[in-house]
Order: sequence, then C-alpha cells, then structure tokens
Amino acid sequence: MNSIQNLCDQFFERHKSFLVENYPGIRKEVLIRELEGLCDFRYSREDFKKTPVYSIPENQMDQFFSKLLTGMPLEYITGYSHFYGLEFEVNDHVLIPRSETEFLVEKSLEICHKMKKDQLDIFEVGTGSGAIAISLAANLNEKNSITAGDISTEALGVAKSNYSKLLYQIPEHSQIKFIESDRLTKFEGQCDFLVSNPPYIKSSQRSGVHKAVDSYEPHLALYLDDEQYRQWYIHFFEQIFKVLKSTGQFLIEGHENNLEQLANWSKDAGLGNISIEKDLCGKDRFLKGSHPNG
Ligand SMILES: C[S@@+](CC[C@H](N)C(=O)[O-])C[C@H]1O[C@@H](n2cnc3c(N)ncnc32)[C@H](O)[C@@H]1O
Repeated sequence: MNSIQNLCDQFFERHKSFLVENYPGIRKEVLIRELEGLCDFRYSREDFKKTPVYSIPENQMDQFFSKLLTGMPLEYITGYSHFYGLEFEVNDHVLIPRSETEFLVEKSLEICHKMKKDQLDIFEVGTGSGAIAISLAANLNEKNSITAGDISTEALGVAKSNYSKLLYQIPEHSQIKFIESDRLTKFEGQCDFLVSNPPYIKSSQRSGVHKAVDSYEPHLALYLDDEQYRQWYIHFFEQIFKVLKSTGQFLIEGHENNLEQLANWSKDAGLGNISIEKDLCGKDRFLKGSHPNG
C-alpha cells in the first residue's frame, strides 16, 4: 500500500534539487503538512501520513504536486500565509506578506505606543492582503481607527475577506475601513500615524528580483517605472504632508538602494525628522519621519 508518507518521500527524493532551489528551507514534513491542509484532513498528522494515497481526492494531490513543480510560491498553492501570528488568505492579486514587513508592524506598534494617545487615527497605503492594518488592529492596546487603502479592487477583496475571517482576533477598540484609492487621494481627514509598504522596486531593478517573485507576484505591488518613480513618490510625500496631524509620524518600507532618494524627496515635501532605519538583516529598509512640527 502506498501511503501519503511514502508518496511525499518519493516525490521529495525525485525532485529534491528543484525543490531545494525553488523553495528555500523546504522539507518532506512541509509537503505532508500542506497536503493535509489542502485535503482538510480531520484526524492526527500521524494518521494522515499513514493514510493510503487512494483515499485522498486524486485531483487535489496531482494539482498540488504539479504546481510545486512550476516553482509557484507555496503560499499561492495553499492559499494562505502566516504573518505576525495570524493566518492570511492570499492569492495572485496580493503580495505574500514578508518578514521585513513584520518588523515594520513591530516598529509601528512601538511608535503608536510612544505617542501615548487614547485614540489613534492610522492610515495605511497599499494594504494588499490587509496584513499590516489587520496586525496593527489586533495588537494595538489603544483605541484606534484605521483606514487602509489600495488601488487594486481585487486586493481590497482579499483584505476585506481577511478582516472578516480574523475579526475574532481583533479587539472591539480597533476598527478598520478599507477604501479604493490611489495613494492618499480618497482618504478623508488626518492621521496620527501613516504606514505603508508601497511598490518600491524601479523597473530597471527588476533583474535583481528573484524569478519566482517576478513570475508570480503582482507587478502592481512590486514595480514602478523608472520615469514615473520620482514623481510617484514626490506626490505621495506631498499628500503625506497634508494628511499628518501636527504630531503625526510616518513609517514606510523601501528599497535599500532607493531610500536615500526617498529621504531627500520627503524633505523637499516639507516633512521632518527624516531617518533611514535598518531591517533585522542590517539592510536599510524603512523611512521614518514626521510632520515638521512633530
Ligand atoms: C508591496 S505591496 C504591499 C502589500 C501589503 N501591505 C504587504 O505589506 O504585504 C504594495 C501594495 O500597494 C498597492 N498599490 C500599488 N500602487 C498603488 C497606488 N498608486 N495607490 C495605492 N496602492 C497602490 C498594490 O496593489 C499592493 O497591494
């Protein structure tokens, strides 16, 4: 009898070099765990491993293994990704949330906490799966109202679905409103804190992007044309200047080679206290600043 365990062992051994190259850190156990999730198996992992292959719907297993051999990111195959302790639905309309961005959330929580306000108004630009806004909402102790925007209708659909699925993890003092908006154009009012992980790779930097990222993740989430780049950010910083309250602060994720430029453009737009902050790998990753009076 061929069991799930045997099948995964055989598949792993046969395609080991491809799998290791395309899925850093992958192990046989990961295949078994993901397959178990896809099959919605209700008993123990040990039982699942011993389950005869014929008792699992064939098309689900075939699809899983054939997608793996295309190099499609595991998160798009399984339809979910873990971020800041929560499970987010993802599909090819949204970026797979990254560990650098978990650090952005960590730093955002620190900034918000240090503001010592009873009520926080927070804006997020480019929410994608909703990972940042929802993680903030789930972890802020202060009463808060978050407006999270994206230019993509499809991405907003994913963000809203994640919000309703994760609502049970979000305290009553946190609220999120999702809106379709080009940067801050449709946002109303002002905020204490603005956070964003916008598209930040210049089209000329595309050759440095990992093949799987370039092939499968939405280009709207990743790239800006070189010709458009400067104007896109200048307009964004001008909008930020207008929406920040006088004590307001912002934190934006960016490309290590472009943050110096972003720092200059943000200063030109009148923003103050600009600094470039590193990620956990020691790379320049974030631009921090505030309203000039902040
Ligand atoms: C790098 S992804 C970040 C997604 C998510 N916040 C995260 O950190 O995983 C950038 C997001 O910005 C959105 N976006 C691109 N251009 C935009 C624009 N002009 N205005 C608002 N959102 C935009 C994309 O659709 C994408 O969801």
